[in-house]
Amino acid sequence: MIKIDKNEGWINLSTTNCSYIIKLFRNQYPLHFYWGKKIPTPGKREFPYMEPTRGNLVIPEPANDKIYIELLPLEYAYQSSGDYRPSSFNILDKHNNPVIETKIKEYSILNEKPNIPGLPCTWAKEGEAQTLKLVLTDSIKNLDIILYYAVIEKYDVIIRWCEIKNNGTQEFYIKRLMSLSMDMLNNNYQFLFLEGAWARERQICKEIIKPGLKQIGSIRGISSHQFNPFFAILDKNADEHKGSVYGFNLVYSGNFIAEVDCNYDKNLRLNLGINPWEFSWNLKPGASFYTPEGIMVYSDTGLNGMSRIFHRFYRERLSKSTWRQKMRPVLINNWEATYFNFNEDKLLKIAESAKQAGIELFVLDDGWFGERENDKTSLGDWFENKRKLPSGIGLFSKEIEKLDLSFGLWFEPEMISKESKLYKEHPDWCLHLPQRLRGEGRNQLVLDLCRKEIRDYIFKLISDILSNASISYIKWDMNRTLSHAGSIAYPDEPQGNIMYRYMLGVYELMFRLTSHFPDILFEGCAAGGGRMDPGILHYMPQFWISDNTDALSRLKIQYATSLVYPPIMMGAHVSDVPNHETGRYTDMEFRGLVASSGSLGYELDLNSISVIDIKNIRDQIVFYKKHRKIIQFGNFIRLLSPFENNTTAWMFITQDKKEALLFHFALLNEANLPPSLLKLIGLDEDSFYVEQRTGLNFSGKELIHRGFLITNKKQDFKAQYFHFKKKNLN
Ligand code: GLA
Repeated sequence: MIKIDKNEGWINLSTTNCSYIIKLFRNQYPLHFYWGKKIPTPGKREFPYMEPTRGNLVIPEPANDKIYIELLPLEYAYQSSGDYRPSSFNILDKHNNPVIETKIKEYSILNEKPNIPGLPCTWAKEGEAQTLKLVLTDSIKNLDIILYYAVIEKYDVIIRWCEIKNNGTQEFYIKRLMSLSMDMLNNNYQFLFLEGAWARERQICKEIIKPGLKQIGSIRGISSHQFNPFFAILDKNADEHKGSVYGFNLVYSGNFIAEVDCNYDKNLRLNLGINPWEFSWNLKPGASFYTPEGIMVYSDTGLNGMSRIFHRFYRERLSKSTWRQKMRPVLINNWEATYFNFNEDKLLKIAESAKQAGIELFVLDDGWFGERENDKTSLGDWFENKRKLPSGIGLFSKEIEKLDLSFGLWFEPEMISKESKLYKEHPDWCLHLPQRLRGEGRNQLVLDLCRKEIRDYIFKLISDILSNASISYIKWDMNRTLSHAGSIAYPDEPQGNIMYRYMLGVYELMFRLTSHFPDILFEGCAAGGGRMDPGILHYMPQFWISDNTDALSRLKIQYATSLVYPPIMMGAHVSDVPNHETGRYTDMEFRGLVASSGSLGYELDLNSISVIDIKNIRDQIVFYKKHRKIIQFGNFIRLLSPFENNTTAWMFITQDKKEALLFHFALLNEANLPPSLLKLIGLDEDSFYVEQRTGLNFSGKELIHRGFLITNKKQDFKAQYFHFKKKNLN
């Protein structure tokens, strides 16, 4: 996977389909030479970037008068060195001096992918990975900058992170430290990222890259609804199915930044890492600081190719949960059915109808604890609300089990309400700045999870409940962003640090709870999809991707989310109409097929809908269970984008291509529309397929090259599915 040509200074990292090549230049600069489709290591070439003489640029030393620092494609970029692009790091000594100049000290290959202390990581089995450890050192400041590149050949991914090690006797302040930097030569690239808002998460945004600096990121303490810690650089002609695409994703759930800087030659500098906003980490003598890891994926078959790599890797090597490879249950969640207004009787009635419909898991959402009658009280008081649940969670969970359903429960472990017993006892347990406002969002404050004693308290409370009831699922919610982020444990630290420490605390608590209760399926949530990122998905292999359950909105949200994250990780529910967020009506079939494109659930009162809808739901669940394996573990392929068309289409295909499901969603109808041919992707060209509902036969070639005919139906929001099976020629 990693080949080093010491004589010529080449390092070639290769996966099944790509090469990433570094040139070690004059023992000083690790230069970026290439990342893309597999190529051999270049031969003898001292300096591959010789420029004609250019005016008015800084050179590193007079002898090399055609080497301009700001034109060098660097693997990791210095500050204050004559490279005027956004640097990879900024580390100050006590005189605020940022200058760091490194030499290449050593490099080695580790036959594993190491973990990063305290942070969530992807992982590899023995023999699957190699890691390049490249140590740069500043001998004046006694600092090592260690670049890590893990290569997992089989999954076609390269993973980068960085460590700063203080070998000296003076202290430093890390102001900025990127997980990865990359310089790319001009190719008229496009920048693709996911932007949004609450209930409108992850909308695709694609821009032509123009000169200047473009940043996306978060300073909200969570990765956020607004931007996801993912972006891709696309060749100018690349699209869903063709062309080179470079995808980047940060395994971190707090403040992040992604930068694309385009200079006067239209060359790019990419940076991805923790957001430097108010970040200032005191690096003591002897200490190390590690960045989160950044996943890098190259595809020469467009965005779909990139997504397939992310999906497979994340399904198999992101989470360690035992649920990683288990089929996900069809659930019902009472939130949109009852909100806070429920009692045991009402819940049991919903559960009974759910069982009859074929549902497997009943989830009790917000409102079951403390004095919680609305969203103003009781977060932190994790003991049952006796008015609503007189027999307690333990007995109630048994009642649900008697119906032959498993039981799941909602928690918001990171929060505290001002109106709570916990706040009365510990008014200083929330994040706050002394003498300043305690800014609330959704009437709640954020617990200071930087502090171990607070994490211990929450851990004990939650684990007592989990140990005394039959609980097989937890929805871990987080309904507000961070502000006024001070901790009495770290009175002198800026908000950026506290938000980072907070994230470490959350990860530690998640690690403890998920490893103590390995059989529980954890689903992450942050007011819907405000923290859907690989950091959380490492602990919780499923996420509630949006509070918006409107099927039309969901087409966009699920389509865009699937650029990085596989359908099995997306909680997707059928809810009532008119939809509670958009007021829109769509029929049960449309809502059902959209939600069946993820981990299916229901979020409505089954006792207040029509008999026809109940029947439709039963049929949907039979359909979903029949096809669940291919939906949750098959390859997912996007065919038509809701961002560009009046129709949306996608497919699920088994790994062996023997079976495929095609979902087609027509949005607003027009009169007198002709049928359309939709070219399918990913099937076996040399086989024949039978569409199971019509019995019609097709060659793989016909479906791929001519297409499959979809007829127009006289209806807005019309969903259809088609099921293809390879014909057994024997
Ligand atoms: C958040 C979640 C919802 C629901 C409510 C409960 O908004 O995203 O699904 O759990 O909290 O308060």
